[in-house]
Amino acid sequence: MAELLNLGVLISGNGSNLQSIIDHIEQGSLKAVIKIVVSNNPDAYGITRAQKHGIPVVVIKNSDFKNKVGFDAELIRILKDHQVDLVVLAGFMRIITPDFLKAFPGRVMNIHPALLPSFPGLHAQKQAFDYGVKVSGCTVHFVDEGVDTGPIIIQASVPVLDDDTDDTLAARILKEEHRIYPEAIQLFADGRLEISGRKVFIRK
Ligand code: GRF
Repeated sequence: MAELLNLGVLISGNGSNLQSIIDHIEQGSLKAVIKIVVSNNPDAYGITRAQKHGIPVVVIKNSDFKNKVGFDAELIRILKDHQVDLVVLAGFMRIITPDFLKAFPGRVMNIHPALLPSFPGLHAQKQAFDYGVKVSGCTVHFVDEGVDTGPIIIQASVPVLDDDTDDTLAARILKEEHRIYPEAIQLFADGRLEISGRKVFIRK
């Protein structure tokens, strides 16, 4: 049997994307193992989700460190200790440092709840809703030094309906997030993602 891809999943909140990754692994449609979940929020519900499935969790609080560099050095240490191959940001509310990216080159993924490059940053679903777009969606991308600017791996679109609120739109987008994030991770696990400048080619 081929070796499984070792994941480190970083969370700050509800952890529904973490849950989807766990479910896909348990169903056998994602050939990976979550070696560690790291939360920078001790109250994140995602911690409970991980624990229910016997996945180790580490909490590191922003306030325990003088600066981002110190925080990220500890994060790198934890992920390397757990032999993580791919770092999966799943609602992790922190911008990571260039040092972190150097430690995991081409090995950090994020999911964003809008069709990038539209509506980067916080509250993307509300930004799109308030703008009045007719179509929105989500984007899985590799992380670079910018905010939500890295090479795009997969996107999924959803319609914006006349009777939507930003919450109903966010729920429709989240359903697609739960589908495409495990898919992108499996493509990585299969060695099928090739980054070429801004583009990610999905090899056959
Ligand atoms: C998701 O909408 C994700 O796209 C964004 O943060 C949210 C995290 O949700 N980056 P959850 O914690 O996975 O439920």
